[in-house]
Amino acid sequence: MKHVILDCDPGHDDALALFMAMGDPDIDLMEVTTAGGNQSLEKVTKNALSLIELVGEKVPVYSGSLTPLVKAPKWAGYIHGESGLDGVKLDSPKTEVAGTDAAAEIVRTIMDHPDKYVTLITTAPLTNIALAALLEPRICSRVKEVIMMLGAVHTGNVTPVAEFNAYTDPEAAKVVFEREWPITMIGLDVTHQAICTRDVQARLAAANPGLAEVVNGLMDYFRESYKDEECFPDPPTHDPCAVAYALDPSVVRTVKAPVYVETKGEVTCGMTVADLRAQAPKDCRTQVGLSLDTEKFWNMVAKDLANLKVGGRK
Ligand code: RIB
Ligand code: CA
Repeated sequence: MKHVILDCDPGHDDALALFMAMGDPDIDLMEVTTAGGNQSLEKVTKNALSLIELVGEKVPVYSGSLTPLVKAPKWAGYIHGESGLDGVKLDSPKTEVAGTDAAAEIVRTIMDHPDKYVTLITTAPLTNIALAALLEPRICSRVKEVIMMLGAVHTGNVTPVAEFNAYTDPEAAKVVFEREWPITMIGLDVTHQAICTRDVQARLAAANPGLAEVVNGLMDYFRESYKDEECFPDPPTHDPCAVAYALDPSVVRTVKAPVYVETKGEVTCGMTVADLRAQAPKDCRTQVGLSLDTEKFWNMVAKDLANLKVGGRK
């Protein structure tokens, strides 16, 4: 069983990651924390609450930092739309957030549970995670592992070398990579293999007829955004790759490598530099994803979607 805090910015692909985390019997989703990224903090938090209610789950949501640590916020409405989940009409949430200080909540949860109990899965800029590590450094040796959708070993998406979650808050990413916790970076080298083709989408929709309208609405919109903005014929579903890795590490091929985050470069700011030159040092705590077992991945996503009850019924 993985006891998970999911830090996210729903976001079309975050929605699939959240569905997986709620649908998989091997994940105890302890709480969800939100950070601005795909849209403003207010919008992604509302989306997280609505997605959880949609499937009749009860998971506490804590909103986090309004802005990145240093950079001015620049949300990704050009991909995720004005609401952050354009393409679907979800009911406004009836539940309130459980709190508005995600960093403090992450610290409390990790410190209140046994050593190596909590797994941090992140699918957003790392602002909340960095703040938590600065607030209480002891969490970095206590947490079981950090699995993040972020970065890239090779090419970026927001710039030629930087991926959106790292680019949005590079200072936070630098803080996180410089701490002693074990990190698995699931970057674009992996997630650009998680392409939701129309055939895959049909399979995911069929996995849970009660959720089909939402899955189709999300992926149809996501496809048009990726066509227009990044010339992808079908959308890469980044965030579920991090949850899939947490459930079965064999789904991603990884290699141990030190990772450094560029925060100063005029052209390279937000770049995650993985040093693949030689054998990683023995004490290297970071590893980066290089490829995805796509068949195993989509089987996992479909299985978890099938477990969800829409509105409390399957
Ligand atoms: O670059 C892709 C990442 O940025 C994903 O997490 C997506 O949801 C956006 O947050
Ligand atoms: Ca995300």
